[in-house]
Amino acid sequence: MSEVKAAVASIKTRPEFEVFKAKISGSNGLLTAVKKTIGKLPQAEKPAAGKLINRAKQQVEEVFAEILARIEKSELAAKLGEPIDPTLPSPDDFAGMRHPLSQIREEMCGIFHRLGFTVAEGPELETEWFCFDALNTPANHPARDMQDTLFFPADTIAADAPKHADEAYLLRSHTSSVQIRAMLATKPPLRVVAPGRCFRRDTVDATHSANFHQIEGLWVDENVTLRDLKSVLDFFVREVFGHAAETRLRPSFFPFTEPSFEMDIRVPNLGALSNRWLEIMGCGLVDPKVFENVGIDPEKWSGLAFGIGIERIAMLVHGIDDIRHFYANDLRFLRQFA
Ligand code: DAH
Repeated sequence: MSEVKAAVASIKTRPEFEVFKAKISGSNGLLTAVKKTIGKLPQAEKPAAGKLINRAKQQVEEVFAEILARIEKSELAAKLGEPIDPTLPSPDDFAGMRHPLSQIREEMCGIFHRLGFTVAEGPELETEWFCFDALNTPANHPARDMQDTLFFPADTIAADAPKHADEAYLLRSHTSSVQIRAMLATKPPLRVVAPGRCFRRDTVDATHSANFHQIEGLWVDENVTLRDLKSVLDFFVREVFGHAAETRLRPSFFPFTEPSFEMDIRVPNLGALSNRWLEIMGCGLVDPKVFENVGIDPEKWSGLAFGIGIERIAMLVHGIDDIRHFYANDLRFLRQFA
């Protein structure tokens, strides 16, 4: 009996199994031969012999099934290769790393978080009202040309994004639309940053991409002043670029802020861009018309707002001269940020 067991245990592959199976239950097999002898037995002994043979057949089939299961298991193991322990640290520090843009986004949100800002979100598919009108930029406003916007065809249906009948859907050209959503969702005081993807009909070159990212900031409270704007943004700049970074607010124009500014920075150790004034964001105090559009009393509340390009900051921090590196998925580029 132990010989049989050893023979069974030695079967490792399907061809070996087929040979074994043929020896037992094939047309010249053992079991088949025994079955044939029943005919020659005296009539009285046939039922008992038949029973015995059936039992043997059952047992043989169980053994076949066992062998097959074992073979299948080892075939699967061979396919899967070495067993892995997913709880072990990765041997490659690149595995599971965050994209450089995500790293910078998180760092930026973290800095504003320390100043009490929470993260707000809004959709990438927007309506004209959220992206422009509510931000004090009506259809005929020249500022609308500043942002070459990607519109959807007039008959587009987006069931989960309600809009007025005569409005178009668009891909948001800036994250400022989230200011409006945040103010409609939360009564002041409020303090939010909204990181997200934006889209413009930009021709793609070293510094422009049709798809890029911004972080919007909005702080609404009683008596928010220019001094708050300057100190929030100064804190941000020094956290990112170091304490030697200088900042300046240069008068500018945005329809949704009054007054409006561009913030420039000058940093001593920024490679080829050292010690030069570099524009890094738009900002200002929330225009009273924007408050009126979302039902906030501009006599009682005031606010500051800013919008920062995430790619711009990442390029300055890392000395990257071409925005297209971020989207090319070139491992030689990405590995540098592991
Ligand atoms: N939305 C502007 C842009 O994309 C940037 C901006 C400027 C945002 C001033 C603001 C702001 O919140 O106050 O060009």
